[in-house]
Amino acid sequence: MPLPQNFKAMVVSESADKKFSREIKQLALGDLPAGELVIEVKYSSLNYKDALSATGNKGVTRKYPHTPGIDAAGVVVNSSSRDIAIGSEVIVMGYDLGMNTAGGFGQYISVPAGWAVKLPAGLSLRDSMAYGTAGFTAALCVMRLLAGGLNKDAGEVLVTGATGGVGSVAVGILAKLGFDVVAATGKAAEKDFLTGLGAKTIISRDEANDTSGRPLQKGRWAGAVDTVGGNILATALKSAKYGGLVTACGNAMSADLSVSVFPFILRGVSLLGVDSVEIPMTTRARVWQKLATEWKLDMSGDLITECSLEELNPKIDEILKGEIRGRVLVNPSK
Ligand SMILES: NC(=O)c1ccc[n+]([C@@H]2O[C@H](COP(=O)([O-])OP(=O)(O)OC[C@H]3O[C@@H](n4cnc5c(N)ncnc54)[C@H](OP(=O)(O)O)[C@@H]3O)[C@@H](O)[C@H]2O)c1
Repeated sequence: MPLPQNFKAMVVSESADKKFSREIKQLALGDLPAGELVIEVKYSSLNYKDALSATGNKGVTRKYPHTPGIDAAGVVVNSSSRDIAIGSEVIVMGYDLGMNTAGGFGQYISVPAGWAVKLPAGLSLRDSMAYGTAGFTAALCVMRLLAGGLNKDAGEVLVTGATGGVGSVAVGILAKLGFDVVAATGKAAEKDFLTGLGAKTIISRDEANDTSGRPLQKGRWAGAVDTVGGNILATALKSAKYGGLVTACGNAMSADLSVSVFPFILRGVSLLGVDSVEIPMTTRARVWQKLATEWKLDMSGDLITECSLEELNPKIDEILKGEIRGRVLVNPSK
């Protein structure tokens, strides 16, 4: 089928007085960077980082005008790659997509073939973006905990920022694997949502945010998936049990971490860093395989809100305020 001349995309522009605005525009395929693959994007998803890019955060996106969207899943419509043929269904996430390369908030992307993972059997394009980078990162966190030796008999596992994208999928996967999950949230009204995902216990964000100044708390967590950083990550480390494992992937609360060495040198606690952007392709494919099989969650329920590019606009502001629940799936052709 011939490719269209134009396609719809969200474009973020910077004005002369350094103000940023978002519009849904028609772009030409020739506006995309040269890449080995041209992909028709069937679905994308909203991540915290997209909201930073869409509001002019130069640590994420240096040059505007720009189309954000660090996630994309779709069908290859043009290929100069020997490995990925026209018609292949692929997932693209991480690397530079949506940062300084036009991203998934448009109906087409053009990327190097090395950024694409073939969609694993058992996962639809829609499901893959229902997970998106957030769900993929949740799975990476769980993988790190398991690789560190955490097992379901070791005790409670804390998930912070539990109603967010990474948090909610982490709660779901850990519960599916039989862990005793404690969800920490700032949204008291979302108790049923978290219980529905499999959390055994819900605690308030305040309870997970110790301000006593003490270097250690009573040891409670065998493991923790922290998605917010700052003092909540410090608190998770201080309240981990002997040999506890704590993953860190996010900074929605703060990028700073102030903690003494005592959790590490008196309790043998480990802090495990998690990055989804540059993770090697072999691990990337292994994580998607897990999400398509043993760790697969029901992505049809109230974990997902589907929206068009137009409906995405207000959600960008909501995610920055920590107000989103679960995952926002983006359908650029809706
Ligand atoms: N390392 C990586 O490769 C990687 C990949 C994906 C995401 N991330 C990072 O992980 C973090 C979470 O991403 P996400 O997509 O899950 O974002 P999200 O959907 O916005 O979720 C973040 C959640 O954190 C909580 N929260 C928000 N602001 C907070 C604050 N000021 N203090 C304490 N808690 C707060 C809220 O949950 P509650 O209301 O339930 O508390 C919120 O829903 C972000 O920092 C993101 O950049 C990193």
